[in-house]
Parts: sequence; C-alpha cells; structure tokens
Amino acid sequence: MAEPSSVDQAMKAIVQTRYGSPDDLVLREVDPPEVGDDEVRVRVRAASLHPDVWHVVTGQPWVLRLMGGGIFRPRNPIPGTDVAGVVESVGSEVTRFRPGDLVFGETSRSNEWTNGGAFAECVSVPEALLAPKPDGVSFEEAASVPTSGYIALLNLRGGTVVRPGDRVLVNGAGGGVGAIALQIAKARGARVTAVDTTGKLDMLRSLGADEVVDYTEEDFTRRGVRHDLIFDVPGNHSLRACRRALTAEGKYVLIGHEGFGASGKRIFGLFPRFIGLIVRSFFTGQLRMGRSSIPSRAESIANLREHLEAGTITPVVDSAYPLAELREAFRHMIEDELRGKVILTVG
Ligand SMILES: NC(=O)c1ccc[n+]([C@@H]2O[C@H](COP(=O)([O-])OP(=O)(O)OC[C@H]3O[C@@H](n4cnc5c(N)ncnc54)[C@H](OP(=O)(O)O)[C@@H]3O)[C@@H](O)[C@H]2O)c1
Repeated sequence: MAEPSSVDQAMKAIVQTRYGSPDDLVLREVDPPEVGDDEVRVRVRAASLHPDVWHVVTGQPWVLRLMGGGIFRPRNPIPGTDVAGVVESVGSEVTRFRPGDLVFGETSRSNEWTNGGAFAECVSVPEALLAPKPDGVSFEEAASVPTSGYIALLNLRGGTVVRPGDRVLVNGAGGGVGAIALQIAKARGARVTAVDTTGKLDMLRSLGADEVVDYTEEDFTRRGVRHDLIFDVPGNHSLRACRRALTAEGKYVLIGHEGFGASGKRIFGLFPRFIGLIVRSFFTGQLRMGRSSIPSRAESIANLREHLEAGTITPVVDSAYPLAELREAFRHMIEDELRGKVILTVG
C-alpha cells in the first residue's frame, strides 16, 4: 500500500500510441501511475532525452521492438528512461526513501529500448533503480546521467576495465555516453585521448581529456599512437583500422550509433555488426571482455552517485526544454551539434 499522495487526479504526460515520428507525440492528461509494493512514485522535475528514446519512439531499427518495448506499439505509452525528482509516495516494501526525498535514477525495469514513463509529471520507479540526488547537483544534471552512465559502466568492465596509466581513447567523447566514459577512465587513472568534432574540444579538455583529436581534421587510426583501450561510440572505422591504434594486448569496445536513422539499417540495425564482433572475439583477444559479471542497474546508479558526489563525473547539460516543447527538444537533439545532454523539465 502506498502512502497517501497529492497526485491522485490526472497528470500531464507525453503519450506515444504508435511507433512513428517524434512529431506524433502528444502532451495529454492521463491517470497517475500506480505505486507497486517495491516502487517509489517520483514527482518528476527533470528527465533526459537520448538516442535510445529516439529508437523507441520511432520503433527503429525494428529488431529493438523484440527487446521488450512492444512489437506493434509501445507497451508503455509514456517515453523516457531517466529521471530526477522528489519522492511523492512509497510502496509498502520500500525502506530507503520517504516522501520529500530528492532522488534520481532509471525508470524502466527492462532496458533502455523500452519506454520508462519518465516524460510525465509523475512516474513510479523500482526503489532499487533510484539513488539519493547528491547535494550540489541540479535535477537537470542528475537526470542527464543514469542511462548513459550505465552504458559506460557496462562497457568498462571485465577485460576493458581501466587501470592507472592505461592509454584510453574515447571516440565520440563529446556525446552522452562518451563524456561519462571519458570521466570514469580519468577517475581510474587513465591517460585519455578524446575524439570528437571541433566545437566540442574545449568541453572535452574541461572534462579532463589529456589530449583531444578533431575527427574532422584527423583520423585517430592513422596517428601512429597505440592505446590500451578504444571505447568507440560512433563505430565509424573498421575493426581493422582501429587495431592499428591498439596495443597487442589492448581492447576494443563498440557502443554503436545509428545516427537517428542515417545508418539506413532499419530492420536489424547494428546487430549484424555486433554478432560479427562476438564471433571474431573467439579469434581476437582484443575483442574479449574476459570473465566478469554484468553490473546491475542498481549497482550502476549507486556507483554513479558516488562519482557525482566525489566530483569525478561532471554532468554536462546542453539545454533544457519544458515537457510541452518535447518536439523541439527532439529536433534539437537530432539536427544540431550538442554540448551535453538535452533535458526535459517538469513543473
Ligand atoms: N545517452 C544515453 O543515455 C544512451 C543510453 C543507452 C544507450 N545509448 C546508445 O549509445 C550510443 C551513443 O549514445 P550517445 O548518447 O553517446 O550519443 P550522442 O550523444 O549522439 O554522441 C555521439 C557522439 O559521437 C560524435 N561523433 C559523430 N561522428 C563521429 C565521428 N566520425 N568521429 C568521432 N565522433 C563522432 C558525435 O558528434 P557530432 O555532434 O559531431 O555528431 C557525438 O558527440 C547510441 O547508440 C545510443 O543509442 C545511449
């Protein structure tokens, strides 16, 4: 049983009834979410927009619909996977939070290719996926971190874990995932080379990059410098080319980016490429992650909170839009050059 709530009447939320264009999304009044026994109802103050929200809104590539989001239409009609806000009520099994607490975290029990309900005035979130919002970190900043941070931590484990003195190259370091990977690598003592476009290089230096490479001017695979880890977000070079910039024992990890449909891979997306890398990993040690457990999302948010508290992750917010301007926020994310995350603010 949840404690009494101030929002038992309708609330405003972004609603997606089918896969299609972000322009089809509407702001509408809906019933507030129920609060499960292990859930916390959060009054949303900020939520973040990122490329995976685009995937779920458009239903592209098609294969991602099989990952839990819903085959013909989204199972949860309210998008959004990252939230920061104020606890409004808690379920009977919740022990760590009380109404009034300031929290941030991921909203979906499933994965980032499902709608998590964050683009609304209120969202119910499993207690385990939330952490207290650190003092000195705004709601907007906190909401920018959870899912990108999870992807970064997930791919900096096992054989790709960074040790002091390692040379790490982050390709696409100016984006949501890359900017956090850069900072986690720095916190672990690496010397980091950050690759991105001209206008983001100052930002990358300010986040701690030891060296920056402008991809519009220089090809990092042809600089004659070898790295212990390449953390590759855009995946715009072949594995063969990337191996030129890896030490013999170095590791390569691909995150991948569909360029908001520009890759043209509408059915299977990057899956064939990932499967190819998995097959090659049997023969190429540089692709092997080694034995390691996958961090849970609960572990991830606790770890990210520690980084935020310690100041080893500085969130970067490009811009903030009210929920009612979601379409414009999408347009900005897809068409413009961002300096950090696009955030939606509520209330
Ligand atoms: N962010 C999240 O919360 C999240 C969560 C889960 C999964 N993912 C997935 O992770 C992937 C990356 O997401 P993201 O949020 O980091 O994307 P992003 O914010 O769009 O970042 C991609 C970065 O790569 C840069 N880039 C583009 N072409 C490049 C090139 N040729 N060489 C070097 N850098 C280049 C982009 O710069 P330009 O501005 O020049 O294009 C941008 O800074 C996506 O596939 C996404 O679906 C993201």
